[in-house]
Formats: sequence, C-alpha cells, structure tokens
Amino acid sequence: MLKILDKLSATMKDDNRNFDSNSISKMLTDLQMQPEFDMNMDVINQVSTNEHLIRTLLDIVSENYVPKKEIKVLEINVTNALMAQEIDNHLAHAAIYPIDVNYTIATKCIDNINDEYKNKSFKLTEWDYKSSAFPSDISQLELIVMKDTQDLKDVKLDVYLQEAYDAIVSKGFLLSVFKYKYTEPELLLNSMNGRKNMKNIELEKRINDFTTTAIQMGFKEIGRKYDSINSMAVLFRKIETKPTVPEKHNIIEINASDMSWFETLKTRVTENIDTKDNIWLIANDSQHNGIVGLINCLRLEPGGDSLRCLFDCNSNKSSIKFTEKPYSDILNNDLAINVINERLVGTYRHITLPKNYDKIPSNEYFLNVGLNRDLSHLQWYDSRHIVTTDEFYDLCNVHKHQIRCHVYSSGLNFRDVMLATGRLISGPETLFTDCLLGFEFAGRRSDTGERVCGFNMSRCFGTTIDANENLISPIPDNWSMDDAITILSTYSTVWYGLLERGQLKKNESVLIHSAAGGVGQAAINVCQKYNCDLYVTVGTEDKKQFLMNEYNIPENRIFSSRDIQFKYKIKELTDGKGVDLVLNSLTGEKLEASYECVADCGRFVEIGKYDLQMNKQMGMFSFLKDLSFIAVSADRKLYLTQDFGQNFFKWMNENCTNGLIKPINRTVFKAEDADKAFRYMTTGKHIGKIIVKIRDEETIKSQLLDIKPANEMTVMTKTYFDPNKTYIITGGLGGFGMELMHWMLFMGARRLVLTSRKGIKSDYQKFLLERVKALGNRFKFFNTKVIVSTHDTNTTEGTKQLLSEAHKLGPIGGVFHLALVLNDCLLEKQTIDGFCETIDSKAKTFENLDRITRQMSIDLDYFVVFSSVACGKGNAGQSNYGYANSVCERICESRRNDGLHGLAIQWGPIGDVGVLSDTEMSSLSGIVKQRINSCLEIFDKLLQTPQAVISCVVRAKRVTQQGSRESKIVNQIWQALGIDPRTTPDHLTLGEIGMESMFAVELQQGLERDYKIKLTMNDIKSITVRHIKEFETGRVDQFKKFAEELHNAREKLAKIKFIIPSDAYTPLNSVRTGNPVYFLPPLEGIFSSLVGLAEQINRPVIGLNWTKDMEKIDDVKEIANYYTKLLKTLHPKGNFDIVGHFYGALLVAKMLRKSPIRRAVIIDTISDMEVDEDMISDEAIIEMLIKFICKDLPKVINEKLVRELKLKPDINSKLSKISADIKEFVGKGFVGRDFDDILNQSFKRAKLFGNYRLKMKNKFKQIKLNIGKKYLEMSGKLLVIKAVANTFDDDMINTTDKIWDSYFLPEKGLEDKLNFKTVRGDSDNDMNIVFNQIAVSINQYLLD
Ligand SMILES: NC(=O)c1ccc[n+]([C@@H]2O[C@H](COP(=O)([O-])OP(=O)(O)OC[C@H]3O[C@@H](n4cnc5c(N)ncnc54)[C@H](OP(=O)(O)O)[C@@H]3O)[C@@H](O)[C@H]2O)c1
Repeated sequence: MLKILDKLSATMKDDNRNFDSNSISKMLTDLQMQPEFDMNMDVINQVSTNEHLIRTLLDIVSENYVPKKEIKVLEINVTNALMAQEIDNHLAHAAIYPIDVNYTIATKCIDNINDEYKNKSFKLTEWDYKSSAFPSDISQLELIVMKDTQDLKDVKLDVYLQEAYDAIVSKGFLLSVFKYKYTEPELLLNSMNGRKNMKNIELEKRINDFTTTAIQMGFKEIGRKYDSINSMAVLFRKIETKPTVPEKHNIIEINASDMSWFETLKTRVTENIDTKDNIWLIANDSQHNGIVGLINCLRLEPGGDSLRCLFDCNSNKSSIKFTEKPYSDILNNDLAINVINERLVGTYRHITLPKNYDKIPSNEYFLNVGLNRDLSHLQWYDSRHIVTTDEFYDLCNVHKHQIRCHVYSSGLNFRDVMLATGRLISGPETLFTDCLLGFEFAGRRSDTGERVCGFNMSRCFGTTIDANENLISPIPDNWSMDDAITILSTYSTVWYGLLERGQLKKNESVLIHSAAGGVGQAAINVCQKYNCDLYVTVGTEDKKQFLMNEYNIPENRIFSSRDIQFKYKIKELTDGKGVDLVLNSLTGEKLEASYECVADCGRFVEIGKYDLQMNKQMGMFSFLKDLSFIAVSADRKLYLTQDFGQNFFKWMNENCTNGLIKPINRTVFKAEDADKAFRYMTTGKHIGKIIVKIRDEETIKSQLLDIKPANEMTVMTKTYFDPNKTYIITGGLGGFGMELMHWMLFMGARRLVLTSRKGIKSDYQKFLLERVKALGNRFKFFNTKVIVSTHDTNTTEGTKQLLSEAHKLGPIGGVFHLALVLNDCLLEKQTIDGFCETIDSKAKTFENLDRITRQMSIDLDYFVVFSSVACGKGNAGQSNYGYANSVCERICESRRNDGLHGLAIQWGPIGDVGVLSDTEMSSLSGIVKQRINSCLEIFDKLLQTPQAVISCVVRAKRVTQQGSRESKIVNQIWQALGIDPRTTPDHLTLGEIGMESMFAVELQQGLERDYKIKLTMNDIKSITVRHIKEFETGRVDQFKKFAEELHNAREKLAKIKFIIPSDAYTPLNSVRTGNPVYFLPPLEGIFSSLVGLAEQINRPVIGLNWTKDMEKIDDVKEIANYYTKLLKTLHPKGNFDIVGHFYGALLVAKMLRKSPIRRAVIIDTISDMEVDEDMISDEAIIEMLIKFICKDLPKVINEKLVRELKLKPDINSKLSKISADIKEFVGKGFVGRDFDDILNQSFKRAKLFGNYRLKMKNKFKQIKLNIGKKYLEMSGKLLVIKAVANTFDDDMINTTDKIWDSYFLPEKGLEDKLNFKTVRGDSDNDMNIVFNQIAVSINQYLLD
C-alpha cells in the first residue's frame, strides 16, 4: 500500500505539486493490475494466513482425519496471496506421524503466482471464474479452502457452493476465509479510485449470504475465528446423514475416580472394529479427567476412528442428552473430540508460543552468552530469581561474607570477549557458575550506600552483585566510578606482573606490548614513574599518535605489534642486548620474537592467556641467558590467595593521588549496547578501557541509600533455584531425572529429594550421586544434600511421608514429577493392571502431591509434570500414558486458575537419556529426539512462562516423496523397517524384520481405508517382502488375495474345536440309518480333518475317539486291541467296516489280522514317507505335526513358523511356539481348550507310531513270510486308496509294493482280499475334491 501511495505522490503531482485528481483513478486501476502493486499481497491482507486465525480450524480438520495419512486439499484463491504454504505446513505437522498433504491450488493465472509455489509439490490449476462455476476435474476432497474476495462476487454462490459440496467427501471440510472489514488505508485508496461507497456492511452481507447458502447446501458450521485486523475464517463440514442418537452400549462413561470402565471400553472397542458404530466416551465427573489424552491415543489404534469424546470439564455431572443442545449439535457435527468449558464447546489446540515468550521486562538483569558462544547470543538475563546470600564458602573453603552492591559501571576485558566468542575455553569455574562474563565493577553498597569498586569471579555486567567483602574497596574521592573501573584490572595486572612478580626497578628498560590498551597505559604510567627506558608496540597509527601525545613516547620507540619487526629494532636500539623486562600480551611468533628481546638475566612477564591455554611449546635456548619467565594470572590469584585483593587495594589507595596510578581514557557504552562494546573490542581499534554503563553516577560522592533502579529492559527469562529450599524430583533416579538433578544444582538448588520405588539400582545412579557428594565434600561452596526417598506416593500416607522427609531439609520449594512406568500396549491386548500401573505412577502421584501440598499450605514456586507429546497428539499403544498425562495437565490448569504454579510440558522423544535413549526413532515419524542439553535450556525458559500446558518437540525435516501412491507407501515401509529391499530375502515377513507396532497400525488402517484390504495387526506382521514388492508395482490384487487367504484360513481354524473328547466315540456325519462305518482317529487325535470326508459317506460314520485316558497306552498293539474291544461293544455282531488315515491306517492294518472286520479302508499317506532313524527324530516329528495341525495356515505363515521353530532350543518351547502362533493367528474365535494337550499328545503319538514302524520295518524283512501267513487268516477285505499327483504315475507296480511294505502286508497270497485304488490329487489340491473321489470309492467299496 505504501508503495502505491509513494508511486502516486511521485508521479501524479502537477507542476505546482498538486494532485491531478482526474488521472488518479485511472492510474490506481492500472497500478493495481500489476503484480507488484497487488493489494492482496499487502501485509494487512496476508494476516489471513496468521496461525491464530486458521491453525485452530485446520487442526479440527486434521484431528478428524487422524489416523488418515493423506489429506486431499484444494485451495481456491484467485488472488496472488496464496495460503497454501501455511496450510500445507500446519496439516502436515498436525500429528506425530506426518500427514501427506495432496494440495491443489486453483488460481486465476499460474504465471502470476510466486515461484516458490511452482517449485514445491503443489499442483497448480487455472480457474477462469468468469466462464466456469468451479475448477474442473477435482473431486474426493477432504478439505476445500476458499479465499473469498471481491473478484468472486459475480460467481453464482449457490452453484459455486453446490459444486464445492459435491467435490468434498462425506464428512469433509470447507474452510472459507473472508475479509470482514476494510482498513482505513484501504478505504482511502478505494475512495481515490472512485469506489467511495465501499462499506463494511457489504462485507458483512457477503459473509451472511455465503454462510446461509452453505448451510442450505447441507454444510454445518463448525466454528469461526476473527483476527483483530480484517480477516475471519469459517469452517464448515459436509454432513450428509444425521448421526443417530447413540445407544446405551455405545456410551461409555470415563470415570476419573475408578477404572471400572476399562474392561467395558476394551471389549466394546474390540467388538466394534467391524461394526463401526460411533462409540461415545463421556466424562463429566471431574475437571481432572484424562479423557482427552486417552482418546488422542485410542483414535490411532484399530477401531479408533469410531470413537468420539465428550468432556465437560466443569465437572458438574451434567446429564448428557444427545437430543438437547449443545449435545445435539455435538452429535450432529460428528467431531471426534468435544470439550465443554463454561458452556462453550471447543477442543484443546496447540498454538505456537509468541516469539518473545522467553522475554520479560525487568530492571534487574545481568549479561551472559548462550550455549552457542558467539556475540549474537550475548543477552541480558533476568536476575530476579537469583537468591542472595550474606555468606558463602570460597573456592578455598574459607567462609566469606558477601556484600550486596548496586552496579553502576563494569569494565570489559579481553578475557570477556574471548569467553563470549568461545576462543577461551572455560575451565573448572563452570562448575560454580553459569555466567563467566564480567570481572570488575563499580557501584554502591546496598547496606551503606558507600561508593565501592571491586572484582568478582563473574556476573559484573549486571544491575546488582553479591560481592566478596575482601574483593571490594571504597572508591577514592578523586575518582569517579568510571575512573575506578579503568584502574581495577589494568593496574592490578601491572602491580602484580611488573612490581610484585617482575620486581621492576628504577631506570630499567622495558618493552610494553599493546601499549595503548588499558594494561599498556597503566604499565607506561608506572614505568614512567620508575623512570624506565620504554619501548612499546601498538596496532595502529592512531594509537601511536595517542601514545606520542598522551605519554610523550618518542616515535622511534613505538613499533608495530602486527609483525615481528620490533625484535630487530629493539636489538638495534639496545646494541643487541635487549630489554630488562618484557610485558607480553602478544601470541604466536610475536611471543617468540618478544622472548628474544629479553636481555641477559632479564624477565619475561606473560599476561596473555591464549598461548598458555593452548599449551604452546617454547624453545629453551633463550633460557641460556639466565632469564626468567613469569606467568601472571591476576584473576586466578584474586580467588585463590586470601589477601591478594586487599593488598592491591591498599597499594591502590596509597597511590591514588601521587600520580603512580592515574585513571585511563575510556570508551563508554550503554547497557543496551553491550554487544557493541564487545564487537568494538574485537576490532582492536580501542584505546584505553571499554566500559559498559548500567546507570549514571550521582554527583554526590558520599554515601547514598536511595539508589534509582536501573533502566527497565526487555531481557531473557532465567530460572534459579533457592539454595535454602528443598525440591522434590519424583522418578529422580530415571534418565531425565538425573540430568535434571545436575542442572538444578548448577542453577542454585542445594537440597533435593529424588523419589524411586526401590532406590538406587544401577552403578550409574550410584556413581552420579557419589560424584555430587564428593564435590560437596571437596568444595563447601556446594553444601549439597541429595537424598533418595522410597515412600509410595501412590498413597496419601506415602506422599505425606515424602513431604515431611523433604521438609526436614528445608522449606519445600517445588515438585518436579517425572516418575513413570510405561506399559505400552494396544487396547485390545492391554490388561487392567498394566493400564492402571501407568496411570498410578503418573496421575495418582501428581494428584496426591497437588492435594496434600494444598492441604498443608506449602507455598510452591514450581509444580511441574513431564507430560508427553503422546498425550497432546496421541500415540497408538499409549492410551494409559495419554490418559495419565492428561489428568496431570488438567491439574496444572486448575492450579493456574487458583493462582498457583502448575506446568505440564509435553515433551517429544528425548535423546541421550531416559526411556527412549536406546530406541531408534522411526524414520517416518514427523519428530526427532531432542538432545537433553537442549531440553534443559528450554526448560529453564518454560518454567517462567504463565501457561499451564506447553508442548516441546523437535520437528523432523519434511520429506516429500514422488511417485505413485503405492510406491510412496512402500517407500515409507522400507524406511520404517530400515532395510534395503534389494538385499532382503523376499520370503521374510515384516514381523521377522521387526516392525514397530505404531507403524503396523498405520499400515493396517491405510490398507483398509484406501484399498479396502482388511488385515489384523498380526496379519500385517505376516506380510512378506515379496507382497510389498508386488504392491509397489501396482499389483494390489495380490495383496487382496493374501488378505483373503488369511481370512479363509482363520475361518477354517476357528471352526475346529481343539477339545479332547471325553466320550469313546462320536458320530461324524448326519446319516442315522444303515450299517455304520467306523473311522479310526488320525494323527492329531481329533476328527476335524476327516469330517469333510465323513459327510460324503452315505452310511452313518462313527469316529472312534482318542480320549484322555488313552494317553497312558504306549503300545500300538494295545491301541489296536482297545479299538477292537470298543468296536465289539458298539457292534457286537462283528463284521465291522473301518477306515483309517495316516497312523489310523496303521491301526487298520494291524486290526485286520485279528478283528472281525468285514471291509477296511486305508487312506494312504505314509507309504511316501521313508522309514528310518531320521523319521523319528524330534525335528522330523515337529515338521510332520506342522504339516498336519498347521496345514490350514497360509503358506507364508507356515514357512515363517518353520523358520522360527528352528531357533527354539527344545521340544517344549517348539510346541509352545506352535500353540502361541496358532492361537494368535486365529484370535478371539479360537476354540482351543485342549490345544496344548493335543499338540503334546500328537507329538507323543507320532513318536510311538514312528518307533513302531521302524521296529516293524526291521523285523518285517526277516519275518515277512510269517506275517504273510498271519494275514492269510484275516476275515475281511482291504481297500487302499491313494491320492497321486495329476501326472499319472506309470510305475504303479512299484507304488503298490511300497504300500504293502508300509503296512507290513504280505505281497502274495492276499490277491483276492486286497484292493488298490488311486484318486487324483496332491497336497495343493482342494481337499474337498480329493475327499469327493475318496468318498465315491469308499461308498462303492462298502456296497458289495
Ligand atoms: N524420555 C523420553 O523420551 C520422554 C519423552 C516425553 C516425556 N517424558 C517424561 O519424562 C519423565 C522422565 O522420563 P525418563 O525417560 O527419565 O524415564 P525413566 O528413565 O523411565 O525414569 C522414570 C523413573 O520413574 C521411576 N518411578 C516409576 N514409578 C515410580 C513411583 N511410583 N515412585 C517413584 N519413582 C517411580 C522409575 O524409577 P524406579 O524404578 O527406581 O522407581 C524410573 O526410573 C517421564 O515422566 C516421562 O513421561 C520422557
């Protein structure tokens, strides 16, 4: 707008500088046609993208699409001020796992829009709103965003909105952004443009028309938001069918005081996975209800999309009637989460903290540099939380008094700049203080008002300081405070370096480096008083002139400090002897050159720190001249030598008027320009001293108590803890807890109580606590008391005991609740104990601490809980954790309402320490781990914010993938699994590769939603790499086939009753008349595999059961006798017709000889199985069992089971694994009371029959004839039926020979009694077809 006005004023004035009113209108119209002057791009018109206006509404959209992974959005915006960037960003980051935003922009002219939209993944389409009612070819949208502008006023609203309605999916959203008023400058421009009559009322009318038409179309208004300038946004939802009032069983009350709802919720949600009724979770009993965290997590679990939540947080136990307002509206809007507060309906939303959330106005502050040591991080920090103490122990464990002083001026030293820029590595002093800057100050004592100057280890750039009484001195009356500042570090260095250590004598020759600086000038002054022969170096011509003018140093004695030429010149001027004393502050080769300037028996006084810190190596040759190297660290001396400060001040006061000590020239910077002072020093241009002025000095030099506060500045918030108070960290021995402990100690805390259930367990915990103790023993300064308490804070009594234990150390100043027990599990598998344990560790403890500290009127500075993003955004498998954290968050809100401190921080995953330290984050996650030092740095600031709940997460860089929808999904799968598909075997399943359950849920829901492929969580784990590759190439049908296969197998297995019968026999078909046929039990002992066959036999079929009692029989002969006996009772006349399959067939063969059998049928399978020692090995038997018992499992699952069984060490664990896998695969429909027994007995049976066959095989070779004879006596006839492969087996003779041998039947003599029949089929054939043929053969055979 300003550009337009500027252009107008520049071009539209006539010669007399008057506006030419006729041309204005034309010019304006022309101007506004140019993109550069587009008023839509004006800042005031861009506020529509402001987070406060649209994010909360967009979050409603994403919240209702979670757990959907993709949102299809269309933005209709004919202006050049697009909103896509912001909307896309908000939607993509709305959940823990990023949402894929498929974003299309329909605009007037693609060429005109900003290039960055063209380069990003937005689809662009042109819409000529004058000729078509709606952008073409767009449908199935989850969200349409419309920017309503003047241009669209001629578009027919009803047609436009109808098209929008049709393009949106059912329950999709429409977000429309309007201008609701004109700003003054806009009105002005419009009036200049001849559009004087543009009125706000027209805008209002447009919004009304839009809204009314939208509602007539069938949209529901969900919410609206205004900004204070000119924009508003309305969110509509397309609701096609009115939701019905939920039935009683679809309403579950989530009660805060008891967890009886858990089982109901679990059952109902699990049952509802297929039905998909809306289930309403309702909470209206307590403000401290965790329903919001609960639903956030459950919505991401299977069945979660049917869940709705209604939370009345005013705890009025209101009766919720869905037929009455506001509940009827809530029902009709069908939003996932609804919170009623003070009769208003809404939800919890995240909004970015204001940019200056960590700033505060204050007139008490100090200067420090952040963790990133560079001058741009130099900041003033609020110092109001620093607790002052009158006494302390210094680093030599000497008890000292402290004097509180108001600081007026501070001196800047090179050391400060080196520290602030990271060039000087901070030493062990960082143990004692978080601030190393500021070493000298001048000001007034707060107790007496006397003017003082002094040193302090740090923090002298500040408004006040607690100064060591030995390191301060009254300021001589002839000096101002700034004068005093110029004396402190400069003259103390010279006093100590030249006089005390260097033993300067009158008339000596001296080289002073950087002589125009503070120390340099002080040295010149003292040396001139000592009548010394001076040689100096300086960095610039200005400085040289300064020294010539100010100190009368001859030009030929002033050299450059930028090179080593001074060495030659000094040698020349001193006839090659050099000088008696060098005061050095130069580094590198200049230091070496200076060293060479020292005369025989001379002294080299080193006051620079850099080369010392860098441990620079020096040649020893010059020491042959008997010279002394004197290193001077006056600052270190100040703290470690008791009377150093006082001795210096004595010397200073004695010489403050005699000319030995003279104040030095200085450059003064105001406090707000402190960074400039630092930068100035880095240029090396300054002459004399640099001072940072905190406040102006009064004219009176005498004592003054009425000291004006320093100017108020906006400074960084800063947390310090009170060393006299006790702070409780629950779960303090955990990963984060131990780090928090250290940080709190560093920030001033001295009394800590860490809670734990069992106390110190690990060596690491022990080591850390002992280290803190050892530090306290070494330095009394710390005076630390850290104790571990094991009182049970889940109980009132335990909490009281904890508080009383803490109180014994000092008044309780804060509670930091970190205790946590995780029991992550999807609801369908969660147990009440696991659910409650997590809730108790978090919510119960926090409730107890809140209630009891209130009852005991404990005034807490901090009451904090570490919540989680899993509560704020939801995470599958953490519903208990989400619930518990949510309770804590509500408690913090209540506390804030009551004027107490309460803060819940929803942390994202934390790196380095804690529960997730060893867990790899899924590369799919939209967030990454936050380093612990970053957490603590932010925590410092968050503690000072007024909010009750804050989220702190580090977002992952967003990756937008190219390619088809399938290939994108597959890419995500590879990423989530962390594998290279080219090198991973195709047969491996996702479960074997190791897939996170969270991702499994995502995939499961995605396949169901987008491809109608329904798989359980276990099925997802059974998907193989091959399936995924097929899916990637678009062969979704293969995936569907697999899903069907799983479904059928599950159905089949669910029909089998794995129950060992108690009756001796069971009818197997429904035929009740005729002569029965008796089936002997197959290997698995139950008849499920033979029922299909039995049903096709046209006579009654009776199964002879393998009952529990038979377990005891361990001999095949006895078994045969048992069944013969049983048959005789069932069929007393004899002449039985019997059928046996597999080992049942062996029994048939055995029974043939002696039982009164009329007809016997063997369905042969065993003749193909080699009989040898290997056959009866445990491995072989297990393989056989899998073939029989697990034959209905799909191939991939069967193969996976075989692979996994190989890893199991013994039979029992192998059998348990088979049992567990089948039970898990079939799920809740499994009828398997005796399944484990069936497996065990089948194993034993297989062993028994295997041994029998082996024994018989060996015997049979020798006694074949005898056996043959025995069979000659048999009464009945035998039919052997064998299924053979489709390709006809020519070698039938061989086959029959094998069969006779397998059943130990004679080859000759029984020709008239033995029959052989083949049917077509092999293991891959449908068993029904094979059974049909077998049944036909049996029916025919039994007829004659
Ligand atoms: N780490 C993360 O990524 C992350 C992310 C978001 C939020 N958070 C939150 O940050 C806090 C600390 O997490 P962390 O990673 O440090 O967890 P952590 O290492 O598991 O520490 C938690 C500690 O709580 C203790 N505890 C459990 N029940 C207790 C009870 N009834 N009374 C006293 N102590 C109990 C446990 O110690 P004992 O076995 O000795 O009792 C455990 O060491 C937790 O509240 C967590 O919710 C962490």
